[in-house]
Amino acid sequence: MKQGSSTVGTNRPVMDRIKDIQSLPTPPLVFTQINRVINDPQASAYDVAAIVSEDPGIAARILRMANSAYYGLPQPVSSIRQAIIILGMDALRSLVLSVSLMDAFATSPLEREYQDLIWRHSLSTASAARLFFCSRFSSGQIRGSEEGFAAGLLHDIGKMVIACHLPAERSRIRSNLDYGVLEDRFVEQETIGVTHEEIGAYLAERWELPPILQSAIRHHHDLNVANPDHRLLSRVIHVADYLAHAASPTNLRGAGVLPTIDPETYGEFRLDVQTMEELVAKVREDFGRAETFLEMARSA
Ligand SMILES: [Fe+2]
Ligand SMILES: [Fe+2]
Repeated sequence: MKQGSSTVGTNRPVMDRIKDIQSLPTPPLVFTQINRVINDPQASAYDVAAIVSEDPGIAARILRMANSAYYGLPQPVSSIRQAIIILGMDALRSLVLSVSLMDAFATSPLEREYQDLIWRHSLSTASAARLFFCSRFSSGQIRGSEEGFAAGLLHDIGKMVIACHLPAERSRIRSNLDYGVLEDRFVEQETIGVTHEEIGAYLAERWELPPILQSAIRHHHDLNVANPDHRLLSRVIHVADYLAHAASPTNLRGAGVLPTIDPETYGEFRLDVQTMEELVAKVREDFGRAETFLEMARSA
């Protein structure tokens, strides 16, 4: 770290300034509505399909994504309702979330290349989390795999906020990152007094995301999770983040720089070198499909 790098370039703490950013993305109406309806045990596929279909642009992109190689459906689906019946409501929420996030941050012209790296890493983490759930847990926890996908997609959203809304701070963080192999969050804390996890958790709260997702965003590096019910997902995202970094040809943290896995998590999931290598190979295999998915989520 360079000397004096912890000086924040304004008298106001960065977190307070973030709270005042008027242009901070808000979730599209369709996402807010879906989120509420899915939490309602009385909701049916028909209710969810009706909400999505009200936004033809989003509906068309979701159908394209559902029919992409990413899901590998044997028969193409031709309606949102059919997509929900085959993929499930949680998967549909992941799709709406993907599209909503792309739209919410699409207007910022800043740091496009870095934004791309974050999306690729996020999607790869989402894929890795889903894969981890499916390979390590019983089919009864299939809901967990979709929650994992959503949490993976969102876990570094705080970095997007920094890249798109705090350009001066982002450039100070970047120059400090060049000076060592410290984990990003330590450099962020040192440079701007707040980490991407805290910023992401704040955005997740504003978006009224389920508390378990807020917790995974806040705790994916520091697993001291207050609510034990949320610990499993946070641990899975922690491992998925590692897998995504290890599998990526364009590692967000720089070539060869990998995060450290929490030893307790490593033990709890009974991981070993061979298992990790196998998982990394599978995540790498999925990466190409994830890229196609990203393009589809973006294309209007
Ligand atoms: Fe992170
Ligand atoms: Fe990450």
